[in-house]
Amino acid sequence: MIHDMRLVQRNLPCFVSSVFLLIFMSCAPRNVKFYSADSPHANNSIFTPREFRRILKHASLPQVSDPTNRHLDSEPAAQLGHRLFFDSRLSVNNKINCATCHDPAKGLADGKPIAEGLGTGRRHTPSLWNVAYNRWFFWDGRADSLWAQALHPIESPAEMGSSRLAAAHLIYGDAELRRLYESTFGELPTLSDDMRFPAQGKPASSVDLNADDAAWKSMNADDQDAINRVFANIGKSLAAYESKLVSRRSPFDVFAEGLATDDKNKMAVLSPAAQRGLMLFVGSANCRVCHAGPNFTDGEFHDTRVPTLDGEQPTDPGRFNGVNEVIHDPFNATGVYSDEGTGSLVEFLINNPENWGRFKTPSLRNVARTAPYMHQGQFATLNEVIDYYSTLDKALPAGHHGETILQPLFLSDEEKHDLVAFLESLTDENIPPEWLVRATAATVP
Ligand code: HEC
Ligand code: HEC
Repeated sequence: MIHDMRLVQRNLPCFVSSVFLLIFMSCAPRNVKFYSADSPHANNSIFTPREFRRILKHASLPQVSDPTNRHLDSEPAAQLGHRLFFDSRLSVNNKINCATCHDPAKGLADGKPIAEGLGTGRRHTPSLWNVAYNRWFFWDGRADSLWAQALHPIESPAEMGSSRLAAAHLIYGDAELRRLYESTFGELPTLSDDMRFPAQGKPASSVDLNADDAAWKSMNADDQDAINRVFANIGKSLAAYESKLVSRRSPFDVFAEGLATDDKNKMAVLSPAAQRGLMLFVGSANCRVCHAGPNFTDGEFHDTRVPTLDGEQPTDPGRFNGVNEVIHDPFNATGVYSDEGTGSLVEFLINNPENWGRFKTPSLRNVARTAPYMHQGQFATLNEVIDYYSTLDKALPAGHHGETILQPLFLSDEEKHDLVAFLESLTDENIPPEWLVRATAATVP
């Protein structure tokens, strides 16, 4: 739609008037703008050189990469992951799949404050748009790769409640899944031998402390290792699929391209309100400090002091537990199932009490599609999020976290509206549509 010239033309008068409005506003004492005629981008210099540089830091999302998963770019792996993502047989009651909670019709989230699978979860379901760009996964970063993350929901009693043995048998027993698996990862173990490979079973782990069932314990160490490897490969194929879920061509991106090349038609794609919101975002509102770079996140953990859903004292340790869990995760980047672990971040991770109550900065791409917001879905709309940043109303005490970036912004109604308009301009769900629906036989190569 953003390529539609009529739309651009329709917006052009708006854009021109916005330029005048901004020049006019620049005379107002509260918002001094520099118009530099000798700037190489004179025509776009409604932005100061500093704003210009900061805006372009949010442009040009790179390609995804993950040295711990050498199959990230493999097509058969992505096809296997695609099938598994929508396959309810991966859950213990055959009713829940990844898309139950990460629903493409709901911005790859579920629209609920707290996730519901087999049971009620602890936190809000994050969107999976651009998830492959993260360096840590989950709100608390307890996984350090996309593939290791995918193993948690499969065995989690509150989510899909299945087991690694059952998942391996599912692939072994389904001709198409097995073909895709073996063409990527090589031959499966002889799972038909049910003395060696029981139908289901899993060890105790951070996901299910009470597991470690008799079936798993009955297996010898080599067979356990073989199943762990299949399980890791299931994660790697889910990651190959999830790395297709990339949003990179929003109105903001077209605008940024126009800004860089001095193309007014492209710049006109962003409404004047969104442009003003962008200036707040990279300027006095300080959003860019945490929502940094082309994926609008620094990939790290902060305490926004947001009140809990029930108004009680917070009990969720967030990053503090996440650090301990990822260090001890047998599927982390330094473990035997990782394709490359040297120099990985988890090696250098140390915990400290300041991590208590910190949560990962979410990406803001497609954020207008993924309400409610925050790790417990505390806010129903983007307006509520912005109201919170404006007043820090009911914010939890700053405690010992020492974060000083967040200060009440005391935004005017117009500024709040502008920030929301900017966040809405980060929307683009335009990927090949077949990736967003259950795979059909027709998509098999
Ligand atoms: C019952 C709902 C539910 C199901 C089913 C589910 N998820 Fe999630 N997912 C969540 C919740 C809730 C979180 C955040 C949990 C947390 O941070 O503690 C999450 C987190 C994630 C993340 C991390 C995102 C980020 O930004 O860090 C990824 C990736 C993910 N899920 C992928 C999957 C895949 C793949 C499957 C299927 C194998 C799946 N999920 C099944 C609810 C679900
Ligand atoms: C100190 C770092 C920091 C700053 C500054 C900051 N954010 Fe955030 N933002 C976060 C973190 C961390 C979360 C998740 C908090 C949670 O769930 O507890 C978040 C959540 C959000 C969300 C909800 C996203 C979702 O998917 O749930 C939006 C929208 C948002 N921020 C926008 C903004 C805007 C706009 C600004 C500037 C006014 C801003 N943020 C400033 C760190 C920050």
